[in-house]
Order: sequence, then structure tokens, then C-alpha cells
Amino acid sequence: MSRYRIEGGRRLQGEVTIGGAKNSAVAIIPAVVLSDGVCRIENIPNISDIFVSFEILKALGAQVRMLDPSTVEIDPRTICSHVVPHELARNMRASYYFLGSLLGKFGVARVSMPGGCNFGLRPIDQHLKGFTALGATVPPMIENGMIEASATHLIGNSIYLDVVSVGATINIMLAAVKARGITIIENAAKEPHIVDVANFLNAMGADIRGAGTDVIKICGVPHLYGTSYSIIPDQIEAGTFMAAAVATGGDVLIKNVVPKHLESISAKLQEMGATVEEIDDMVRVRMDGPIRHCNVKTMPHPGFPTDMQPQISVLLAMADGTSAVTDTVWENRFRYVDELRRMGAQAQVNGKVAVFEGVPMLTGAPVKAYDLRAGAAMVIAGLAAQGRTEIDDVHYIERGYEYFIEKLRGLGAEICRVDIPSPYAKRA
Ligand code: EPZ
Repeated sequence: MSRYRIEGGRRLQGEVTIGGAKNSAVAIIPAVVLSDGVCRIENIPNISDIFVSFEILKALGAQVRMLDPSTVEIDPRTICSHVVPHELARNMRASYYFLGSLLGKFGVARVSMPGGCNFGLRPIDQHLKGFTALGATVPPMIENGMIEASATHLIGNSIYLDVVSVGATINIMLAAVKARGITIIENAAKEPHIVDVANFLNAMGADIRGAGTDVIKICGVPHLYGTSYSIIPDQIEAGTFMAAAVATGGDVLIKNVVPKHLESISAKLQEMGATVEEIDDMVRVRMDGPIRHCNVKTMPHPGFPTDMQPQISVLLAMADGTSAVTDTVWENRFRYVDELRRMGAQAQVNGKVAVFEGVPMLTGAPVKAYDLRAGAAMVIAGLAAQGRTEIDDVHYIERGYEYFIEKLRGLGAEICRVDIPSPYAKRA
């Protein structure tokens, strides 16, 4: 068990380099299953979700070799199983991408119900609707916690998603790339990681057009080949550091980003009084005045990302007035507000809307991370608060932020990890 300890009230200053996008990597690694050759993937983030993905590949029989901390070589030719066991699948939500890739490659897949951050129901009906449209059989009842899909052969089809879903868009692409004929996904998600996965599949020889728009066309091909590919920078890691710079009245140069992926975040921070300067593959964020209150509504890309909702709410908790935050994507992603209240925030949550009455200052307190982005938000709050903050359950944070403490210390933050004996540890 470990926790983060933060002595707040220090301005963040200096440079930080962003790693590879988690939500690309957790889809691209399962996609390697579809290849008939060895794949080399660069700019892999050093996070626990990735290590779980590698363990799943090894459990399926693939060879996985780290060439350096951010480059992996995967040989899927020795895969001999199509079953992703519970003890691995339950550790993260993205394990469900092995459904699409195993089904697309072998015509059969059995994956335990996924885990992942708990902020309300996280159905996968649209994923299964897509697999069924491609000709797969998906048993109506989930037995023994395992999701199954099988098909003698997959046939291209048109699929209109009832809801804009990142996971369903990617999973249907994975199942369709080798199907016979043409698949059209309509009302598709348009996030940067959707485009990244499509680009990786095309680098292996797939024929996917329209990724990044709401209509994606996939022409099935008989084979996909080994390739080399580098993952895009993480939009949300970058946004998290942008928010931390604003929260502490800092001046931070954030390197290795795609500014276009950050447009909605940059616009919102500028609305709150920050200066955001785009310089090639970098953004510089400065804040030297009060945080202006404003309203935020999360939307699928290119709208304001739900994965930045907790982080931006911390800033609004310290703004010069009343702000409303609406999360249109997840129905219960405000549990962290209870923890912010412990630090002095004034907020009311009613379903998908949180209303913040800004306070001049937060004060340090013992808090916990409810999930990945909520945990990042508590770190931002601790950096801005006066006094000491200790954050429990930091394993959630380390699912999605590589070298988080090291990067923050590099910007002048006073943050460290402290190991705490488990209350159940046997007395020596
Ligand atoms: C991905 O989750 C991300 N996770 C999430 O990021 C992110 O919050 C989410 O997309 C939205 O951008 C990964 O990429 C691993 P969805 P996903 O399918 O794919 C409903 C993080 O912090 N829906 O786009 O699970 C769903 O309930 C994580 O990095 C259905 O109704 O999200 C939600 O309301 C947290 N049926 C909406 O769609 C389905 O079959 C969007 O969900 C699928 C989704």
C-alpha cells in the first residue's frame, strides 16, 4: 500500500515531456493479435494498464520483448489461445479489445467481463451489436463472467452506433479489418486515439478510411503484416499538466504534444484566464492572475473531454465565482467532489451536474483517489492547497500516468510516495 504526500502552495515551473497515449496503447497492443508478423511499437507509456496488456498477450501465447522502457516487440505468431482469463481481464477496462482482435483473427474470443474505473454503468452493448452485425454469435446471457463471440467467418456490414462510443468504435474496427467485404461504422467516435488505432491497422495493411470523422469505412483484407509504429502523445496527460500549471499559478512548457488534440482544453483554460501558447509540438501554459469562473460541459471529441472533467473542476473550485460542470458522458463521475470538500471546496452535485462556489484557497487534507482521473485531480488539488495533502489508493493514478511523481518533482512540486503498512499486515 502506498500514498502520495504533497506539500502544496508551490508554483510549477519548467519543462515536462508527455508520454504515449494510454487510450491508444491499450487498443493498439491487443490489435497486434491480428498481425501475421512481428510488430514493434514505440512511445509506449510506462503504466500498469500496459503491463496488464502484455501479461494478457503472454497468456495467449505471444512473445513480448521490451527493447527499451518505451519500445516493445511483439510476435503474435505463437498465440495458441483465444481466452483472456478473469484474473487479468478484471484489472482494466480495455481488456475488452481482445474480444475484437481475437474474433477478427481467429473467429472466436472469450474474455472475462472487463474491470476499469467505476463511475457508473459501463455497458458494452454497442460492442456486441457490432460483432453480431458482422455475423458473430454472441450468447445472450453472460455465463461465468465470460463474454464470448464466435463466427465461422465475419462479413462486412453497416453499423449505426446508438451512442458515440470510443470502445465500440475501436472494437468493431478490430473485428472488421479482416472480415469479407465492407463495413461502415456510423455515429463513430472521433477521438485522437481512434485515428491512432486506425493508422496502426493501416500500417499493418488494413484498409480503413474516415477515422476521425463520424463515418468509418473498412474494406476487409485477407492478411495483416508486422509493422513498426509510434503511439501519439497522450492528450489527457498533457491536459492534466496544463491544469496543474494553472492551479499553482505556474509557468510550464509541455513538450511532445499535438496542439490540435488539446484545442478544447486550451480554449477552456484561456477562458479561465490562463495564457496558452502553441509552439510546434509544445504548449506553454502560464497563469498569473485569479482563476475566472466558467461553465464546462463534457462532450465526445472534439468537445471538452470527460477525462479532463475532474481536473478542470479543481480549478473551478478555486475560481472567482460560481461554475457548473456537466458530464454528458458518464452518469456518476463526481465522487471525487466529496474529497475536494474535505479540502474546503464548496460544491453541490446533482446527477450529471456539479456546481462549484469558488473559494480563495484549498487546504491540505488526507484524501483518496476514487479512480484514475479523480486521483489526478486530487494531486492537482494537493499541489494548489496550503499545507499537506496525503492521497490514498494511488494505484488508480499509476494505471494511467507514467513517472507522475518524477515529472511533477521536475517542475518543482514537493511530492513523494510513502509506503504505509497494510492494516492487515501480520505483526512481526
Ligand atoms: C473510453 O472508455 C476511455 N477508456 C475512457 O477513459 C473515456 O472516459 C471514454 O472512452 C470516453 O471518452 C479507454 O479508452 C480505455 P465509451 P469507453 O464507450 O470506451 C456508453 C480514462 O480515464 N456506452 O466511449 O468505455 C457509456 O456508458 C478512461 O482514460 C454504451 O451505452 O467509453 C458512456 O455513457 C476512463 N454502450 C458512453 O457510451 C456501449 O456499448 C461513452 O462510453 C459502450 C458505451
